[in-house]
Amino acid sequence: MKTLISDKYIKDDKSKAIYDRAVDVITGGVSRNTIYRAPHPFYVASAKGSYITDIDGTERLDFANNMASLIHGHSHPTIINAVTEQLHNGSAYTMATEAEVRFAELLTSRSPGFEKVRFVNSGTEAVMTMIKASRAYTGKYKIAKAEGSYHGTYDFAEVSQTANPSNWGDIDKPNSVPVAQGTPLNVLNDVIIFPYNDIERTIKLLDDNADDIACVLIDPVPHRVGLFPATEEFVKALYNWTRKNNAILAFDEVVTYRVNYSGAQASYSVKPDLTALGKIIGGGFPIGALVGKSEIMQVLDPRQTFLKHPHSGTFSANPVSTTAGRIAMEMFNEQAVLDLNNLTNVARNQIEEVIKLADVPVCLTGAGSMFRMHFQENAPNTYRETYQNKETRDVINELLDFLFFEEDIVMINTMACMFATSLKQNDVDRLSDALLRGLRFMKPKIDRL
Ligand SMILES: Cc1ncc(COP(=O)(O)O)c(C=O)c1O
Repeated sequence: MKTLISDKYIKDDKSKAIYDRAVDVITGGVSRNTIYRAPHPFYVASAKGSYITDIDGTERLDFANNMASLIHGHSHPTIINAVTEQLHNGSAYTMATEAEVRFAELLTSRSPGFEKVRFVNSGTEAVMTMIKASRAYTGKYKIAKAEGSYHGTYDFAEVSQTANPSNWGDIDKPNSVPVAQGTPLNVLNDVIIFPYNDIERTIKLLDDNADDIACVLIDPVPHRVGLFPATEEFVKALYNWTRKNNAILAFDEVVTYRVNYSGAQASYSVKPDLTALGKIIGGGFPIGALVGKSEIMQVLDPRQTFLKHPHSGTFSANPVSTTAGRIAMEMFNEQAVLDLNNLTNVARNQIEEVIKLADVPVCLTGAGSMFRMHFQENAPNTYRETYQNKETRDVINELLDFLFFEEDIVMINTMACMFATSLKQNDVDRLSDALLRGLRFMKPKIDRL
């Protein structure tokens, strides 16, 4: 079989030279495992709209958008202007800025349940603060989360994110599986794992721990579980359970806030008490936010005589991120959300056609401006159905390499696309054509899975 790494990269590989330096000073040569790729990552020179140019001069069409965080693509001129103006006045101070207030006003006006906001620096931190606020408010300490769901890297939030057939246990009582070696046993014991969208099993697991559960944490369209939405019935069952049992319904909308103007939560008849945000609300800069009911958010209020959850962060609510975020979210208005979701829908339809033409057992899941390809005939409904064995992962990696090296297209490493408003119909056509060639090229291996 022909090698997938094109000659051009081997001949004139400035990225390799930088990576050789990187491994001497950065462990593994990267600070985010997600950007590592064999034989080495490729280093960016510049990016504009939906195109990224690497230091060897190759321009690639980007459907990853920095792991779903760039809702308007790269270096949008309106965001650049606003941030540049802010930078002339400083980037962070041990004082407050109106920038955070303006942005909080915008966010609270967008979603009915967003009564108060606290800015932090990442999605991980937003989820962590949401869990700690839930504990502080309820006086309980356990959390419940779905098997396979990714919520960042806080000890409690990451449990069972990478559960696999050798350790996930009985579906009636899934094991709490550590991600990082050395995770304290107490952490694992304090995280109840449930199967997503499985009302009966989940409620039974919650009931068994009702006295201790501070919050039930879900992502309404969890990427790693399979990128399919929570059902109305499931969300309602969790809502009702949390009402009855003095627990918080906590949504992680770090990725899914893009799905509707008011977040994916707009799709449900009941709303969460607290929501963690991140990614797109930073307009391309690091950010996170905890938003939700005033009564619960009060645990963070420094004016309280008994402050239940003291909370700070050196760069939290810095005016660069909050300015960029506000401008980005102002531009991501109701019409822009609709247009983006429509374009993504067109892409999904075209790719469904491509799958038929290539005659491969592949399917799509997704919502709003996101979709993911699965190497199976029928769309998965559970994490265990989504789980990929090594053979499937190898095929996916080979297809991703084909797209990256032969077609100059960047996708997320789960074979997902997270769209940006900078994308146009001709970009979608290019993706469909590339996928047709890629799936045809990989067909013998896909058929053998
Ligand atoms: C659903 C979800 N929650 C939380 C996070 C963590 O966000 P961050 O990488 O900004 O810490 C991510 C990141 O991918 C995510 O996908």
